[in-house]
Amino acid sequence: MWVVQVYGVPMVQVTITNKPVRELRAEGYVFFVSPDGGHHDPTSAEVALSRAVIPADVQVPTDIGALLKKTGWRAGSGTVGEVMGLRDGKPVYLFYVGLAAASVDKADRIEFYRCGIAKIVRLCERLKITQLALDLPDPVLLGVDECDCGKETVATIIMASYQFNQFITDPARHLPQEYELTLSVSEPLHEALQVGVEYGQRIGHAVNQARQWCDLPADTLTPVEFGKCIQSVVHGHDGLTCQLFNRKEIEALGMEGLAGVAKGSQHEPRFVVIEYASPHPNAPRIGLVGKGVTFDSGGLSIKPSACMDEMKDDMAGAAAVAATMQAIAHLKPHVNVVACMAIAENLPSGTAMKPGDILRHYNGVTSEVKNTDAEGRLIIADALAYIVDKYKLNALVDLATLTGACSHALGPFFAGIMTKNHGLQEQLLRAGRTSGDWLWPLPFHDNYKPAVASDVADVCNIGKSQYRAGAITAGFFLEHFVGDVPWAHLDIAGVSFNVPDKAYFRPGATGFGVRLLIELLMRWHHENGNTIEKRG
Ligand code: BES
Ligand code: MN
Ligand code: ZN
Repeated sequence: MWVVQVYGVPMVQVTITNKPVRELRAEGYVFFVSPDGGHHDPTSAEVALSRAVIPADVQVPTDIGALLKKTGWRAGSGTVGEVMGLRDGKPVYLFYVGLAAASVDKADRIEFYRCGIAKIVRLCERLKITQLALDLPDPVLLGVDECDCGKETVATIIMASYQFNQFITDPARHLPQEYELTLSVSEPLHEALQVGVEYGQRIGHAVNQARQWCDLPADTLTPVEFGKCIQSVVHGHDGLTCQLFNRKEIEALGMEGLAGVAKGSQHEPRFVVIEYASPHPNAPRIGLVGKGVTFDSGGLSIKPSACMDEMKDDMAGAAAVAATMQAIAHLKPHVNVVACMAIAENLPSGTAMKPGDILRHYNGVTSEVKNTDAEGRLIIADALAYIVDKYKLNALVDLATLTGACSHALGPFFAGIMTKNHGLQEQLLRAGRTSGDWLWPLPFHDNYKPAVASDVADVCNIGKSQYRAGAITAGFFLEHFVGDVPWAHLDIAGVSFNVPDKAYFRPGATGFGVRLLIELLMRWHHENGNTIEKRG
């Protein structure tokens, strides 16, 4: 049996300097080129591509611009130009990352930058170099400030260097996990950049922690093990407290959804609550809920075998929520946060929950189980009912790999958001666009509500077929458990693993939601003030 290993943190050592890169010693030099040019712009093509920015002891071909052009590289194309030079007979690399034009939408410009940064990491892996000097671009070109430039640069390098390699025994297949970065910027910007760099370290590590939990096989990360992992998040943080409930306690709380889903498995379910107390008095309180199905076979309504392996990632919501708590313990936002994670394994067996069963949830609402594969809503229901009962919340957000329907509707780049609270929706959409965890709203209209009516219980766990819209009807099931708290449901089924084309991911988990939630929580008091009033 394998045991869960502590996630091996990719170490990114960052030095900030006001020396120009030409005076720095590194194995690779990174320049950013704006396609807009511009005369007073220090990253304009002419400057970035000139000999003047390269260390004097590095021999390079004379006309770098012409050389790059020959390879087909263009500044706005999203590719990274690569030129090899020599220092003392050893290779030194010059990398040219094109930025997006200023006319491009701000959120797309920063995403373009992230992908450029990630492609540098991929090149470093191939060239076996780990020491980089970056001539950071003017943040204005990215549509961000100095702090966010540092944050995005570092978080993205850490995300890009993540590799799930603990089961790969050949050391030659292990990619570098330690990078040395030197960031060159002018003096007055150092402080803001430093803050951003630290912020970026926390974000990157939290995203990777969530990914590692997802990538672990279900037989390693059982509900009990996952519960322990989440518990360990609070260690050493005064601001965090943790409560963990076992099967007996879950049953005693009246959570038949969570207990029911777990019935077919040898492994006990877990319900974990982490609280973060803001150092600021009277801060509002945000609730987070995560789906933690460590393996979803479908239960007696068993899934087809193709791609069933992917269902080890069915705990991505809980992983994102737990990793977010880990990050905010350091980042200390001006909001209180309470996070509930409902954790179970969904398997068929002689003791498994059966189609036709009726469950009574924490708030007394009963649900008819027509399909044991619609298990996520059954456990999230109990978590939502619990959190709104125990805490006075200003807002509540749940994250769940809930439906294949959402994955089909939106594909791998946008998670579905369902809410009736306009303000909360706007805030989440904005946090999504700036953080890189993009959201797209689905119509959460009451017309869909009757889809989950039941003849024998208060609500049915699958929608009636005429209503189709499986992501939305799942949302309406959950609505029975949130009372009148401002609530948003995020269906992350399509975005949590195997996302193509984004250079900072690899096949496997993405940690979707961590960047989003950190951004939401860190910005909350800027956008809402320190109010304990309920939002409209
Ligand atoms: N975990 C799945 C949803 C899922 C599917 C996540 C694909 C990621 C990729 C969920 O528990 C599930 O099985 N949902 C069913 C619901 C249906 C039975 C109403 C689905 O989407 O098919
Ligand atoms: Mn399922
Ligand atoms: Zn599931």
